Amino acid sequence: MYIRIFVFSLAFTSLLVYGHGDEKHDQQKSKSGEKQVNEYKVHYSHINESYQKNVKPIFQKACYNCHSQNVDYPWYYPIPGVQDLIDSDIEEAKKHLIFTGSYPFRGHGNPKSDLKAIKKVIQDGSMPPLRYQVMHWESFLNSEEKEKVYSWIESAESMLKEERE
Ligand code: HEC
Repeated sequence: MYIRIFVFSLAFTSLLVYGHGDEKHDQQKSKSGEKQVNEYKVHYSHINESYQKNVKPIFQKACYNCHSQNVDYPWYYPIPGVQDLIDSDIEEAKKHLIFTGSYPFRGHGNPKSDLKAIKKVIQDGSMPPLRYQVMHWESFLNSEEKEKVYSWIESAESMLKEERE
C-alpha cells in the first residue's frame, strides 16, 4: 500500500515537473514565433511602401504586360501565331510572379527569394525578354531605373536578413 502511494506520488510529481516544463517551453516558443511574424509584417509593410513609391511605376511600364492581371494587349495580338506566343508568355510569367497589388508578391517563390530573382533578371538583362523589348522600346530599363530597383532590393534584403529564403 505504502509503495503504491509512493509510486503514484512519484509519477504525479514527475508529471507536474515535466508537464510544467513543457508548457513553459511551448509558450516561449510560440511567443518568439509570433514576435518574428509581427516583425516580418512590419518589414513587409515598409518594403511595400517604398515599392509603391519607387519601383511600382517602373514595373507597371516594363513588367505588367506579362506579370499582372492588367495586360494591355498590343495591336498585333490577333495575328495568327502571335496570340499563342503572347498567351503562353503571360501564363508562364504569372506562374513565376504576379506584380499586381503590393509586396510581398504572389508567385511560387517566397518574399525574400523573389527579391533575389528580380535582382538577377535585371542585372543580366533577361527581363523583360528581348523579343518583347524590341516591340516595346518603353519597356527598356535605363540605368536610373535599374538603380532604383537595386536600392529598393538592397534595403529590403537588409530588413529581411534573418528570414529564410
Ligand atoms: C513579355 C512578357 C514578359 C515581360 C514584359 C516580363 N517578363 Fe518576367 N517572365 C516572363 C516569362 C515568360 C517568365 C518565365 C520563363 C522565364 O524565366 O523566362 C518570366 C520570369 C520572370 C522571373 C522569374 C525568373 C526565375 O528565375 O524564376 C522574374 C524574377 C521576372 N520574370 C521578372 C520580371 C521583371 C522584373 C520584369 C520587368 C522589368 C519582367 N519580368 C517582364 C515574361 C515576361
